[in-house]
Amino acid sequence: MKIAMVGSGYVGLVSGACFADFGHDVVCIDKDQSKIDRLHEGVMPIYEPGLDALVASNVKAGRLSFTTDLAEGIKGASAIFIAVGTPSRRGDGHADLSFVYAVAREVGESLSNDAVVVTKSTVPVGTGDEVERILKESGTPHRVAVVSNPEFLREGAAIGDFKRPDRIVIGAEDEFGREVMHEVYRPLFLNESPILFTSRRSSELIKYAANAFLATKITFINEMADLCEKVGGNVQDVARGIGLDGRIGGKFLHAGPGYGGSCFPKDTLALLKTAEDYESPVRIVEAVVKVNDLRKRAMGRKVIEALGGADAARGKRAALLGLTFKPNTDDMRDSPAIAIAQTLADAGVSAAAYDPEGMELAKPLMPEVEMVSDPYAAIDGADAVVIVTEWDAFRALDLDRVKALAKAPVLVDLRNIYQPDMVREAGFAYTSVGRS
Ligand code: UDX
Repeated sequence: MKIAMVGSGYVGLVSGACFADFGHDVVCIDKDQSKIDRLHEGVMPIYEPGLDALVASNVKAGRLSFTTDLAEGIKGASAIFIAVGTPSRRGDGHADLSFVYAVAREVGESLSNDAVVVTKSTVPVGTGDEVERILKESGTPHRVAVVSNPEFLREGAAIGDFKRPDRIVIGAEDEFGREVMHEVYRPLFLNESPILFTSRRSSELIKYAANAFLATKITFINEMADLCEKVGGNVQDVARGIGLDGRIGGKFLHAGPGYGGSCFPKDTLALLKTAEDYESPVRIVEAVVKVNDLRKRAMGRKVIEALGGADAARGKRAALLGLTFKPNTDDMRDSPAIAIAQTLADAGVSAAAYDPEGMELAKPLMPEVEMVSDPYAAIDGADAVVIVTEWDAFRALDLDRVKALAKAPVLVDLRNIYQPDMVREAGFAYTSVGRS
């Protein structure tokens, strides 16, 4: 089966490479000529573990190719995926669907065979209806079905998530759409991944509901962490104690500096907008968005406290270890590190930072921070060492070396990757999240 993937960003490229790996004939299409040129040379536009090898082996096998020519790329494809960005629209928080609709228009004008057009981008409820209208308007003589098929993969674990998903959701309104999608995902049925066929609108909503629920879970445990600090509890024990209840589940209960990334912040905002449009408020999600926004700066204040409070902190220096919104990615979008760096700068605290993959993208977002080439260079002369992102490389720092290099043995662990007793015994003043 031939599959066309329009948009070779995170979701498009990973999905395209995985479909090819399952034996489909895949063409990844993107308007960005330099991105396509680099892909031809085997250079990935994003950092994702294992992606370069997966792309290389499928290109070599002749199952995966890249082009900027949409009309040529979709020729003969039974399924045409739209996997372009849906960023927050500047000013109002609505998802910006202009890229999705532009692709739909171009597909309608170029179609040369019957096909299913699949929205894989995260799109608000009703987008599929509009895509269908645009395709009809194009006057194409070919049979077209519009299907919603949201993607749940996580950055940093994208290939594993795609190949062994918890579920596949397909929102289709007719048999043609369902049949083609069945064929597209046949290799995954063999992996026994559950598949859920729903209406197109339900499918579109599932993606937002899932992300908003996960964001809520994180925000809930983050507030429990604050409470633990006040009452002398341990949030990791609380998370384990509630997570073992099968109705709650133990995942996404790690307290930290607040969620960031390309999905949760933008998708929660877009869900609020949909709820507003339909006059059906989602007050819990409203609270989650507010609490998470406030939390990021509060983490900066936590560092200032560890430096002795606002007056003592002025003129001091912090070492920031990790800048990306989570490990194993170079993605800086809505990373808590940005608000933390800003709060420190506002308080007159200077900062040096190291991140294994994120420094290039971080530089313009935090010009006041000095980027250095390894964690110990950041620690050199620092009054406090702050773990912002839980990269594996920071889990076993040489604490003697840290103590020797730093001006003061102060460790602020915003991801709870160290054992408090162990670090305190090593002579550090240690602060973490939700643990006394
Ligand atoms: C998320 C969803 O998990 C995925 O299904 C969807 O397709 C895209 O959005 P991603 O943004 O890649 O994936 O990362 P994820 O691992 O979900 O983490 C999101 C944010 O939540 C990160 O900032 C992470 O640090 C934070 N987080 C996650 C916590 O603070 N605690 C947790 O327990 C889990």
